[in-house]
Amino acid sequence: LTTLFLKSTMLKRDFLFVDLRAGGGGRGIRISLDVGGEGLLNDMDPRAYHYIKRNILVNKLEGRLEAYNQEANTLLNMLVLSGITLDYVDVDPYGSPIPYIDSVFKPLCKKAYIGITATDLAPLSCTHPRKTLVRYWNKCIRVDFEKEYALRLLIASTAMRAAALGFAVTPLLSTVYKHYARIFIESERSYNRAFRVINECVGYIWYCTDTLERGYTRDPYDTPNCTSGKRPIVLGKTWICSITVPDTVSRVLLEAEKTGFLRLETLKILEKLRDEVSINTPYIRLDKLCSVLKVNMPKIDLLVSKLRELGFQATKTHMDVRGLKTNAPFEELARVIYELAKR
Ligand SMILES: C[S@@+](CC[C@H](N)C(=O)[O-])C[C@H]1O[C@@H](n2cnc3c(N)ncnc32)[C@H](O)[C@@H]1O
Repeated sequence: LTTLFLKSTMLKRDFLFVDLRAGGGGRGIRISLDVGGEGLLNDMDPRAYHYIKRNILVNKLEGRLEAYNQEANTLLNMLVLSGITLDYVDVDPYGSPIPYIDSVFKPLCKKAYIGITATDLAPLSCTHPRKTLVRYWNKCIRVDFEKEYALRLLIASTAMRAAALGFAVTPLLSTVYKHYARIFIESERSYNRAFRVINECVGYIWYCTDTLERGYTRDPYDTPNCTSGKRPIVLGKTWICSITVPDTVSRVLLEAEKTGFLRLETLKILEKLRDEVSINTPYIRLDKLCSVLKVNMPKIDLLVSKLRELGFQATKTHMDVRGLKTNAPFEELARVIYELAKR
């Protein structure tokens, strides 16, 4: 996915990138071979460093890639002092990327890209709310759209840290797969844009635990009542704008279709992503909704086509096989589910 993203997004071939925690260097080498650019492949572990050097030689990339054996933050801060600016940084830690985020932005050039992996889905999706609060400064409860919650929280947290340093971020492509989240963002050095991004895109999600209704708000005190008459719970701060840009997915998908050796699963994820990207409302877990409505769960494909027939946007999501993304109002969605259950 990283090389597909860079191939379709990086307009110049003479770019400079850092693979911050490179392991054996596989990803950085693939970037260099498939996309181009010059890169620093870094890993703190001396054994990993040894393999990075060897893999650079084996692939005859000595002129374009250099191995480093530094602690990730140290390397980035050294780069700031050297005046070298980066076009792309890849952050692929075990667990949370948060310990590296502040350092990542500082050596970036005016407009650059970052690929971030997070494997700490438990705190990101509120399975461990205490950790969520400590690490992501977010008070949460468990929600049915937990994977999307994880992505939105990761993006909001990155955007707020970036803004404090004078960088504005735009999430271009966001995915959750198995045990990890991966986001690709564009960063621009601009306090004015950073203000606009935080002002518009960092907000709250209101959520009804009894009916599963949900929506976004910029003002945590300005939320509708649940249809049950109860007050919703307000979760945040989180990212409330789009988490993927439609044009980016289309370009990545085009690149993917040209690539023969790609795993079928990657293509399927990208196709689902293309379909779901225009619906910003968090997906709803159909099994949980049907349990609230006390009806048998209809086939998700049937529900999707019924909603589309009625003129709503509706699609499955790559994030969860039980998840439905739709812009249909809650009452309408419930009505269609009841109607399908009667058949
Ligand atoms: C998840 S692996 C990276 C895998 C690699 N990106 C790949 O695709 O093969 C994480 C790597 O980070 C390295 N590492 C851990 N803490 C680090 C730190 N603070 N600075 C630099 N490298 C670190 C580990 O040695 C490990 O090789």
